[in-house]
Amino acid sequence: MAEPLVLGFETSCDETGIGLVRGHTLLSDALATSMAEHERFGGVVPEIASRAHLEAMVPTVHRALADAGAALSDVDAVAVTSGPGLTGALLVGVAAAKAYALALGVPLYGVNHLAAHVAVDELEHGRLAEPSIAMLVSGGHSSILLVPDLSQDVVELGRTIDDAAGEAFDKVARVLDLPFPGGPPIDRAAQEGTASIAFPRGLTGPRDPAYDFSFSGLKTAVARWVEAQQRDGVHVSVPDVAASFQEAVVDVLTAKAVRACRDHGVDHLVIGGGVAANSRLRAVAQERCDAAGIVLRVPSRRLCTDNGAMVAALGSRLVMAGVAPSQPDLGADSSLPIDVVSR
Ligand code: KG4
Ligand code: ZN
Repeated sequence: MAEPLVLGFETSCDETGIGLVRGHTLLSDALATSMAEHERFGGVVPEIASRAHLEAMVPTVHRALADAGAALSDVDAVAVTSGPGLTGALLVGVAAAKAYALALGVPLYGVNHLAAHVAVDELEHGRLAEPSIAMLVSGGHSSILLVPDLSQDVVELGRTIDDAAGEAFDKVARVLDLPFPGGPPIDRAAQEGTASIAFPRGLTGPRDPAYDFSFSGLKTAVARWVEAQQRDGVHVSVPDVAASFQEAVVDVLTAKAVRACRDHGVDHLVIGGGVAANSRLRAVAQERCDAAGIVLRVPSRRLCTDNGAMVAALGSRLVMAGVAPSQPDLGADSSLPIDVVSR
């Protein structure tokens, strides 16, 4: 078929993202966020997020269409994140996407949010080399994936056994009195500091699983270190703690991703998810991939965090690959496994 025009819906967390994609071309990416309403709670409150999605939905769809200069009648297919994520939040997106698909008489694709974080890279860098190794680092997930075919075959090689990488950023930011979500302020603070404190690198011993992560011990180590300094009346340099913590996370992530490429004889690595926006992660990944002869692909920062274009990008790929659409009784699955690309 000619390149399909796909309307994508993303509501797995606090962002109402509506994207329009034709083939692998990004046409528009409209975003509404309820983050300001969650900030004072130090985390996303599911009920508030669901309500905000409901209110933002129709205006955001209209904005995406207007930005793309497209009409609803041009849409060839609808794609929606059906999991993983917050159930109530997901349900708003799934219900809206179903309604649009039904009203327009076009197929509906329920897609995996995590695979969409990988698919979004195709909008900027063209079709993914397959197989690729993908590292997915977000607020809820941290995994290393072998991707023989992003349309239908994703194999998880390893994952975090406790906190996700983004979650560690968020928790350490709280220890340092930095705002939520913690990734961007830690990234900024770290640029003013030096990584002079030796924080632990979880699961990097010779007997540890090669591709699994653990960030909970690191988070505790940072909190203990800060407490000890404060108890001794020593000034805590937030930039130095931020830089040292960030270095520990980035060191482990990049070492394990490069190792997965080497072990599997794969020379393409793609990094996706909110933490892929981290400037130090991007720099170290580039250095280590260059040294190992691996081609690195990372979406631009704007597309790393949650958005609707990533869902449309994966939907478009599924349409072009001839994958069967979802049934009309598609639901939300808060713990949809990573190897289920669409359902
Ligand atoms: O992918 P995402 O937008 O939402 C989820 O699916 O979770 O990721 C959000 C996570 C948050 O934990 C946030 O702190 C982190 O991504 N993040 C960053 C940066 N920007 C966002 N972490 C480190 N450095 C950043 N620059
Ligand atoms: Zn995400």
